[in-house]
Amino acid sequence: MALRNKDLISIHDLSVGEVALILDVAKKLKRMQKEGVPHRFLEGKTLAMIFSKASTRTRVSFETGFHQLGGHAIYLSDRDSQLGRGEPVRDTARVLSRYVDGIMIRTFSHDSVRELAQYASIPVINGLTDLLHPCQALTDMLTMQEHLQAIKGRKFVYIGDGNNMTHSLMFACAKCGVNMVACCPDKHLPNAEIVKQAQEDAKLTGCSVELESSPQKAAKGADVIYTDTWASMGQEAEHAQRVKELQDYQVNSKLLALARQECIVMHCLPAYRGEEITEEVLEGSHSVVFDEAENRLHVQKAIMALLMGNEKL
Ligand code: CP
Ligand code: NVA
Repeated sequence: MALRNKDLISIHDLSVGEVALILDVAKKLKRMQKEGVPHRFLEGKTLAMIFSKASTRTRVSFETGFHQLGGHAIYLSDRDSQLGRGEPVRDTARVLSRYVDGIMIRTFSHDSVRELAQYASIPVINGLTDLLHPCQALTDMLTMQEHLQAIKGRKFVYIGDGNNMTHSLMFACAKCGVNMVACCPDKHLPNAEIVKQAQEDAKLTGCSVELESSPQKAAKGADVIYTDTWASMGQEAEHAQRVKELQDYQVNSKLLALARQECIVMHCLPAYRGEEITEEVLEGSHSVVFDEAENRLHVQKAIMALLMGNEKL
């Protein structure tokens, strides 16, 4: 019951137990869905989904997931809502709270999501900001559990741009007891404040969160190698410059050969083949990227059922 009526904005806000609960409920819901067992825990409820950025996985998995839970989801893009024409976030929050039972938002500014949550009287779920992508990182923990069984004490290596994924993965690993190494060039390091917070979180589970500049050193003995685009949404104009600055941080077969033999390769997608990851590795036998994509559905259903439902799960 710990999560009922709460927001899910950052994994840093969740306790170790709450993270474990989300993953356990996700496994339960995944099983129920596969076995055709009805699980309409949000019958009659409505979710508003605000998108100021593009999406394939997040939109489809939230909308489908909410439908499977018995509810109805409404898609609101900047192009056709008043938010896109400048209506304040705090007004939108109070208006939507009068109609719907929860809000999922994908936008640029993390502060806007915090403001939305402050003014909304219903749960707010972060579907990605420039700073964080918690639903993806929680999902990635489930995918790791499925492929590696026990994940506590494993070595997780993120290679590439220090971005929203890196930040949420640091928090997720810290709360799950996974040793996290973020390997990014000096110009593209993760946010120092987030690194500090994740290192504090890591003490709760006795694991570590470290930075390493050499991809070769980082990849040694890795159980998981993870990467993400070199130019996130909103950074399109910097794309060519970033490709130059990040080229030594590509996940390719040579790098993968340094990891453990059973190492899994992860990517939140969309992937840019030939940039942050090679075609060979993305499509190779170590890659679990489509399992990650599927698990978005199950983990977000767990999050929504726990935040918005009345059922004891
Ligand atoms: N991984 C992810 O969030 O994908 P979308 O941008 O397609 O939602
Ligand atoms: N870092 C990427 C993640 C996309 C799911 C972005 O923000 O564009």
